[in-house]
Amino acid sequence: MSDVIVGVDIGTSKVSTVIGKTNNTGEVEILGKGIESCSGIKKGIIVDIEATSNSIQSSVKKAEAQAELKVGSAYVNISGLHVDIINHKTYTNIASDSREISRHDVEKLLYAAGTISIPDDSEIIDVVPRQFIVDGYDGINDPVGMKGTKLEGDFDVVVGKIISIQNIVRSMEKAGIKVDGLIAEGFAAGECILLPDEKDMGVILIDIGGGTTEISVYKDEKLVMNRCLPVGGDHITNDLSIALKMTYAESEKIKRQFQLALTTLIKNDQEISVNDLSESFKKNIKVSDAIEVIEARVYEIFSLCKDLVYTNCPGSYGAGVVLSGNGISTLDGAMQIAYDIFDIPVRVAAPKVKNIPTLDYCTAAGMVKYIARQDKEASTISIKSIPKANKKVRERTFLKKVISALKDFFY
Ligand SMILES: Nc1ncnc2c1ncn2[C@@H]1O[C@H](COP(=O)(O)OP(=O)(O)OP(=O)(O)O)[C@@H](O)[C@H]1O
Ligand SMILES: [Mg+2]
Repeated sequence: MSDVIVGVDIGTSKVSTVIGKTNNTGEVEILGKGIESCSGIKKGIIVDIEATSNSIQSSVKKAEAQAELKVGSAYVNISGLHVDIINHKTYTNIASDSREISRHDVEKLLYAAGTISIPDDSEIIDVVPRQFIVDGYDGINDPVGMKGTKLEGDFDVVVGKIISIQNIVRSMEKAGIKVDGLIAEGFAAGECILLPDEKDMGVILIDIGGGTTEISVYKDEKLVMNRCLPVGGDHITNDLSIALKMTYAESEKIKRQFQLALTTLIKNDQEISVNDLSESFKKNIKVSDAIEVIEARVYEIFSLCKDLVYTNCPGSYGAGVVLSGNGISTLDGAMQIAYDIFDIPVRVAAPKVKNIPTLDYCTAAGMVKYIARQDKEASTISIKSIPKANKKVRERTFLKKVISALKDFFY
């Protein structure tokens, strides 16, 4: 049971749960998955803990039934809306006579990175090493056992807003699930979708969900940017209801019926009969009236993404853009629009994990893979702490273990 890893993706539209296990060959095997729609989240923010926890509970139950096991705890995602990833470099001199770098030296660096000063309303969620540098030689994943006099660590310190973390933890606990750790979506997002070569060449992963657009940028195999825009597929539906004066439900129906984002792809611009906003009469609209509205929003979202990426991480992206999430990637023409805006190759993501058939489970399965990889690679030491807000859970965390291990060292 101990090698079972559970990932829960709390999204604006749905909660997805994936239960996985590392098999003898080190591969992640998916044992069960479950999904439940969610109405407790608006634009990526939990606004109703009760509704969110009900969705979590139901999604976990479905996964439990498939996996035939009971889930006590799980990892949960936290959107880029609520986290900042601060790159922090620190170093230590190797004191031992042998000059051999020990795990202790690495943990000391990790601990130092975990004590950087952060805003009062925030909490450190994780400290993830990007690379280690030994006596000036960079790109080292695992320095333990190497000889050197100076060990430098290049870390991503993941800092989350306390209030958002508390709401996530409360929703999980109300559903009867303890939190093993919070994972910034950017770290999990690519695990199930991107190839190592793509991460190496440079790639922009855009996950457009219901209420948010999560942008994860990878270069040289590392996550270099994870940001989130509070806009997604639900805004397209909203635009349709405002522009064409239809109910939200009618707009969602039209969006899903045509699944188009480009007016030039309309084959037959016929008139269709829709319910008016008042729901008291029917009226005719042209298909192009609806697709024009969708097209405008899709152009806008991709333009915002491009600005964010190239302002923060200028450079070239050899592996192009990968579109994920159900918000836009399901629409015909979305790839062409993304190509128009970014002017680099674009593809729609396809899950690369066995038994993960749709994009719905990619974030949850990505979390399972991410944790499995960390467990496997001793070098990928990471602190997965839980905020002060939840001391009981914090007791179980790696941070706690690291701190107690280091007490002897410091005092
Ligand atoms: N077949 C479809 N055609 C068009 N749009 C769709 C279709 N299916 C789902 N969507 C849209 O996808 C969006 C939900 O996407 P997704 O399931 O990726 O969101 P989420 O992960 O729950 O949300 P977020 O990541 O923003 O927190 C909604 O706006 C929904 O209208
Ligand atoms: Mg999502």
